[in-house]
Amino acid sequence: MGDPNNIFVLTGAGVSAESGLGTFRDRGGIWARFDPMKLATPEAYAADPDTVLDFYDHRRRGVIAAEPNAAHVALARAEARLAARGGRLFLCTQNVDDLHERAGSRAVVHMHGELLKACCTVCGTVTPWRDDLDRASICPACGGVGRMRPDVVWFGEMPMHLDAIEDALAAADLFVAAGTSGAVYPAAGYVREARAHNIPTCEINLEPSDNADAFDDARYGPASTALPRFLADLGL
Ligand code: APR
Repeated sequence: MGDPNNIFVLTGAGVSAESGLGTFRDRGGIWARFDPMKLATPEAYAADPDTVLDFYDHRRRGVIAAEPNAAHVALARAEARLAARGGRLFLCTQNVDDLHERAGSRAVVHMHGELLKACCTVCGTVTPWRDDLDRASICPACGGVGRMRPDVVWFGEMPMHLDAIEDALAAADLFVAAGTSGAVYPAAGYVREARAHNIPTCEINLEPSDNADAFDDARYGPASTALPRFLADLGL
């Protein structure tokens, strides 16, 4: 594989696992302990907003207490090194934490939203969300009381930034998926779209994902060592 200059990187919960943030489908994962249909759907929020807000407050406190790991740092460094040689690293993450940004990544596309942001269910305004939201939270834009929700994509909702993602995918000369089980679409379909564009693909994961057969190449091991090594092999 020649030196790629336009790399599309898709990350999942496995990239933040070594920072202490839970994955979803591993043994003991978040969805093994909590029912997503009761916590991660618009219907769940409408039926029991306090329980949903408590769940996301707890996860957000975990994100604030976490630190980026070597995988996040390596991606930020690769973004800068690619830019310095006129290339681009398009970082599309399914994660709702801000560890990519805190590691120094400058362009992060959060297709499942961001836990450190809240949005008003009346006017749609998105604001930073650092303190726990309770039912009395007031929208700073429209003054609506108690109508703020986490700015994350719930099951049954459309992921964000899909047009930009599709454009970046078509323009890439290397597709890398790191720390994702390949269980949730549309993200899980991106490797096949890359293959359809004859783009080389590589999976970097603790173990083969549901999509393992679709990848040309794979590096298995913890993201904090496998991802920096992979990027170093590319001179990044
Ligand atoms: N290093 C690399 N990979 C790891 C590590 C690690 N230290 N720990 C776990 N993994 C791998 C697991 O083997 C698994 O394949 O990361 C993957 C995590 O998969 P999931 O828990 O399914 O997380 P993800 O793929 O990001 O889920 C996608 O599902 O519920 C939704 O919105 C949620 O964004 C999430 C989406």
